[in-house]
Amino acid sequence: MNNPFDMVLFGGVGDLALRKLIPALYRAYLEGGLAGDSRILPVCRREEDVENYLDRAREALKTHLRDGEYSESVWESFSKLLRAVSLDISKPDEKWDQLGDILGADEQRVRLFYLAIPPAVFGPCCENLSLKGLIHSQSRVVVEKPLGYNAQTSAEINDKIGEFFPENQIFRIDHYLGKETVQNLLALRFSNVLFEHLWDASVIDHIQISISETVGLEGRAGFYDETGALRDMVQNHLLQLLCLIAMESPNSMSARNIRAEKIKVLEALRPLVGDGVDENIVRGQYVAGGLGSQLVPGYLEELDAASSSTETFVAIRAHIDNWRWAGVPFYLRTGKRMEKRCAEIVIQYKNVSHRVYGEGAGKVVPNRLVIRLQPEESIKLVLMAKKMDSLEMELQPVELNLSLSETYDSFKSDAYKRLMLDAAANNSALFIHREEVATAWAWVDPIIDHWRETGSQPHLYRAGSWGPEAADELLEEDGRHWFNAQ
Ligand code: BG6
Repeated sequence: MNNPFDMVLFGGVGDLALRKLIPALYRAYLEGGLAGDSRILPVCRREEDVENYLDRAREALKTHLRDGEYSESVWESFSKLLRAVSLDISKPDEKWDQLGDILGADEQRVRLFYLAIPPAVFGPCCENLSLKGLIHSQSRVVVEKPLGYNAQTSAEINDKIGEFFPENQIFRIDHYLGKETVQNLLALRFSNVLFEHLWDASVIDHIQISISETVGLEGRAGFYDETGALRDMVQNHLLQLLCLIAMESPNSMSARNIRAEKIKVLEALRPLVGDGVDENIVRGQYVAGGLGSQLVPGYLEELDAASSSTETFVAIRAHIDNWRWAGVPFYLRTGKRMEKRCAEIVIQYKNVSHRVYGEGAGKVVPNRLVIRLQPEESIKLVLMAKKMDSLEMELQPVELNLSLSETYDSFKSDAYKRLMLDAAANNSALFIHREEVATAWAWVDPIIDHWRETGSQPHLYRAGSWGPEAADELLEEDGRHWFNAQ
């Protein structure tokens, strides 16, 4: 169990707080990971939000927790940790002093300032925390994407926060890094001699990293239309996954060592500029279509706009120019309103160099390692074996299947829970250093510049499909195809 800490949750009635953070804290409490004398101080602007905070938090828990997690008795005791306060983030008035009084003078007690607010107010918020003397050596600030809109705005945000908090007290979240299977990916790579020796261009044909979503805009139309899939998902989640797959073994699992290896991968990503953008990237935007039994509107209808060139889908062929990965394409793909919700990494091995069985034994399917992060968490290895009960020598693909969600009954992973407790315990291994953010933007920016300069328009795809045909063609050009989740 963590030592008790105080969490000041700016943006206390926001979507992130009610949908993800409060449920994650409840889970931490339920599982004994949150000391009973910890305090959670959601910050709301309006007095009335403070008055009915407990009702809203309780409703949010009932809606967003999984079946069986909510109980009145746990809520009774958990709710005692919650104490909403009202203040205006941009005005350094006496309300901040009241917050200071609640926090008290104990300099050894950990304080987390969670900024679940728009980046435009990160600056004033940190400035007022500093002005009111609320930052001490055990204070940490937790921030989340969008950390800027491009390299420049991101640097401005990081500089601003950096005026008040040293880098080792800044915890930048990418919630994908808190997912259980993502951490398992590192365990798989660096604790098994088997894989570490079969992890390079000599045996791997290519790698696919796909995050497909079935949701559309979810009430975030304004934000999303300004952002698009490349900034929303690739600059952060997909590039982070790519780093974990491609990086060299760190000397240890310390934050410093892991970050150093991730940055090397980002620096080795071959830049996509000019025509290279059109040749290697497909953008898409969904139109109305059938998703399961439901007919869902297209992007423009959801947005309520006549036109928009924002991409809701992107497929990329990327290369990492280093010794280990020379010649191995990394295909990245993500999209909204796709056929299935799934996040999956496929490591496609090369085929055997010589076929010892004749044609009659059937095709030899190359080995494939499939790491699924969601909706269920599993690791699967596709191997060739003899077809049982057959007198003839017949080969067939079989699966070595490690289904984590089935194996562990009480498998209750929650990325935010994990990351908040890590921040409280000062463990920054799963957080992102500002240099990583900057290097990722440096790769993404020229792509967006090119789209803007050329007036690029997205290919249309039907909601409920696997994206535009052009994305299939991108792989077909290389004699490959996407492995769509079953
Ligand atoms: C967020 C994006 O970072 O990740 C959302 O802003 C996206 O657009 C979400 O829906 C996906 O997260 P998860 O954990 O549901 O795959």
